Amino acid sequence: MDFKKDPQVDFKEIQDLTPEQARQEIEALREGIEYHNYLYYVKNEPVTADARFDALFRRLQELEEAFPQFQSDVSPTRRVGAAPVDELKRVAHAGPMLSINAALEEKQVQNFLDFIDRNTTQEARYVLEPKFDGFSVEVVYEQGLFQYGATRGDGRMGEDISQNLRTINAVPLRLQNGERIPPFLSVRGEVIMPKAGFQRLNRERVQNGEPPFANPRNAAAGTMRRLDPREVAKKDLDILFYEIISVEGIRFSSHWEMLHQLPRWGFRTDARNRLCASFEEIRSYYQDLTAQREQVEYEIDGVVIKVDSYAQRETLGTRHRSPRWAFAWKFPPKEEITRLEDIVVQVGRTGMLTPVALLQPVDVGGVTVSRATLHNAEDVRKKDVRVGDRVRIARAGDVIPEVVEQIPEPDRPRKDPFVMPSHCPACGAAVLKEGAYSFCSGKLNCPPQIHGGIIHYASRDAMDIEGLGKKTAQDMVRKGLVRNIADLYRLSLDQLLQLDGFARKSATQLFEAIQATKTPPLDRFLYALGIRHVGQRVARILAQEFKSLEALKGAGPEDLTAVPEIGPEIAQSVVQFFRERENQKVLEDLFGSGVRIQDMKGETRTRPLEGKRFVFTGRLAHYSRKQAADRVEQLGGRVVFSVSGETDYVVAGEDPGSKYARARDLHVPTLSEAEFEALLSRSQG
Ligand code: IVH
Repeated sequence: MDFKKDPQVDFKEIQDLTPEQARQEIEALREGIEYHNYLYYVKNEPVTADARFDALFRRLQELEEAFPQFQSDVSPTRRVGAAPVDELKRVAHAGPMLSINAALEEKQVQNFLDFIDRNTTQEARYVLEPKFDGFSVEVVYEQGLFQYGATRGDGRMGEDISQNLRTINAVPLRLQNGERIPPFLSVRGEVIMPKAGFQRLNRERVQNGEPPFANPRNAAAGTMRRLDPREVAKKDLDILFYEIISVEGIRFSSHWEMLHQLPRWGFRTDARNRLCASFEEIRSYYQDLTAQREQVEYEIDGVVIKVDSYAQRETLGTRHRSPRWAFAWKFPPKEEITRLEDIVVQVGRTGMLTPVALLQPVDVGGVTVSRATLHNAEDVRKKDVRVGDRVRIARAGDVIPEVVEQIPEPDRPRKDPFVMPSHCPACGAAVLKEGAYSFCSGKLNCPPQIHGGIIHYASRDAMDIEGLGKKTAQDMVRKGLVRNIADLYRLSLDQLLQLDGFARKSATQLFEAIQATKTPPLDRFLYALGIRHVGQRVARILAQEFKSLEALKGAGPEDLTAVPEIGPEIAQSVVQFFRERENQKVLEDLFGSGVRIQDMKGETRTRPLEGKRFVFTGRLAHYSRKQAADRVEQLGGRVVFSVSGETDYVVAGEDPGSKYARARDLHVPTLSEAEFEALLSRSQG
């Protein structure tokens, strides 16, 4: 095999190896295979000896089987897919994962450049990148080894999809070119599904009677959030990297410099990235890319324009959700005209009612579209679309197709305008209006909401029922074992044994986990009910104010709005929830099954680090970043990324970065790892 780190393996009989010899050979094989991967997927210099590569891979598999003590998450053998998981765990990002302001019009791009001009002293240079229409992820490395990867989530917290990311060959499991390996590195990239793979996947889905994905982005997102990595490994996925979220031990002065370092470490970047300095260059890049768009092997939906200098980025700063130094110039959406055959109302997991247009199927930019969203009743009214009309639909590439407008046909009689039903089409409960949107109020008894409601009820911050994840909840509902959360408490051991993947031990554990939640404190219980607008904070406020469920149930809108921080929207939602007959029935059932809510008597000491902000820097000996963050969050604290006057503690491990110095400057208390552990154990009481 012609690559430089070709491990010199003489394939000794495995039973003749000492553990130490096996360990060394395993290590050499892992490094060699990953290097081969890097040449193939990143440098695009495929080596020819495939058969030799396969032999090395099999040898590694055999050695790992014979010496299970050397199993490792960063072994290339993990790329073929690990065992399925029950649910995806939440993780905090190493830095915020922001989005970008975007527009279609040239004028807006000029405004962006003018804004940059006015706010920088030296003329800015820009990096232009294709805007990949995929699924944004964070990938984290410590000492050059893959630690975990996460979805973007809400930008602060995402879901851990490590096991799925490992199946993508272009995600490095170890960084290359050893001399500049940072102790900590978090990078951002876009998981994409090439157009060809997308078409194939959709054909398969249709053959299996499953609905096709609307676009490659949804396909990538749907695949990456799957619970069975072996399924993910079969799919055609790729990844391109474009930003560093956080790094220690290295400073770059510009994005362009950083983009050159990424591939040296083994991260694939796009060959179309450019550095430029004027609007004319940006426009010609945009035009070129628009022209090439159909030929590019994956979907791109615009050009991202980024200020190159990191010093200038710093001066420009960020808004709440997007940086001031970047802008996306989107391509025009793809459009088509077809006939609207019907408007149906769909009930989502949150109870939101969405009018959906059923269309005569039409090909829009290579994808067959037969449904399009109409967002809400207000949208239908404004656009005045009616069943039978000819309509223009658009697929922006990144969203579900939408109905843009109706095309007038003067001589054709039209049907009546659409009206939103006053009762939920799924369960019959009253429909509530909230601005332009409509919601079903039958939360606890409405089929599409039951499944979502159970997952929420069981989730960590709610009742924390271990072993009751998404898959299990789905299975329970599908098998008719539960119709609402009260049914959970009636499940027998025998019934739990009917669930997919459950054996006596796991069923007993789940049974006990459910029974263990029969006496929840009021605040947790309120949050667990999933009442609209009642998040953890509001639940706590309500619980502390009203003390018992009885008192809260009896509260009218005025009693509620009299409580600080409770506005009319929350008040209406709470009152309506308890007024709904079906919800009342489920609550009675819960009590009938022995659930007893603990009233609030003064403060409970369950979240001792409530409101405390932590920053981590350097390497911890006993925790990964994620484990440390989890511990803090379990105790009510928050992990933030940069040190400011509002930071409560900076935890410094080995080789701390600049955050440590900044903490000193700002007189923010710093903790060693041992002090951090002491704080955790004190907090746990
Ligand atoms: S940079 C702080 N660069 O587009 C800026 N994003 O809202 C972070 N995207 O969700 C993003 N291609 O997932 C950046 N070359 C690119 C990108 C890109 C696609 C995605 C990203 C984000 C969305 C914009």
